[in-house]
Amino acid sequence: MQHWDPKQYAEHARFVSDLGVPVLQLLAPQAGETVLDVGCGDGALTTKLIELGCTVVGVDASTEMVAAAKSLGVNALSMDAEALAFESTFDAVFSNAALHWVKNPERAVAAVWRALKPGGRFVGELGGYGNLATIITAIYTALAARGVTASNPWYFPRPEEYRKLLEAQGFLIKHLALNPRPTRLPGSLNGWLDMFAQPYTAAMAINERPGFVADVVELVRPTLQEADGNWIADYVRLRFWASKPSEFAVSQVPRE
Ligand code: BEZ
Repeated sequence: MQHWDPKQYAEHARFVSDLGVPVLQLLAPQAGETVLDVGCGDGALTTKLIELGCTVVGVDASTEMVAAAKSLGVNALSMDAEALAFESTFDAVFSNAALHWVKNPERAVAAVWRALKPGGRFVGELGGYGNLATIITAIYTALAARGVTASNPWYFPRPEEYRKLLEAQGFLIKHLALNPRPTRLPGSLNGWLDMFAQPYTAAMAINERPGFVADVVELVRPTLQEADGNWIADYVRLRFWASKPSEFAVSQVPRE
């Protein structure tokens, strides 16, 4: 459903890793720490962890992105966030703009828990409640006009919902907040939609896709295009800092 092209990503979504730098700062990585980057993408942010002296493993569900990350020198593996193959391995798990793609968030949180050493921390950011609401509403309007139905492929939780999920796993939460972050796109909204709306465009024939994208663009133009022609995407982020208590006995670790 979603194909990741590192070249297209660099052109239309470089801001994703650039705007992930404050999340990295919240992680406060220390030299010598072992860190797992879940959804490392093309590795642009992962390399910053390496530069800080961390021993890093990056995982991503896209083999194309894993290859791009490897080309930057990242120890990257093709792996689903819900099936992380690590047990008590990392001092920290970091994730930027990836966890809203998971199908089963409970499984992903459980997998992160298992990957962390006792006392380890889980710091990240994902799309939160209301993320891209204007664009998604337009997508559904354009789909309905074509008689096409499609389920929402993304998970944008409310803060209370994600807090409950993390706490049910046993995490202690130090910070969790929803932050509206309107974001100026580096290029056209068409380019952004060509890349990110694939879970929807995949539901129609190839020759219908440009017309669909053009309709979505016109629907949101009055709200999301600035007078200078730039596009602002209505991103909302959910950022969190959580830890796995060090006193948690191994026998108490919840199993799937
Ligand atoms: C995001 O919030 O980063 C995002 C979510 C779905 C599609 C594109 C971007």
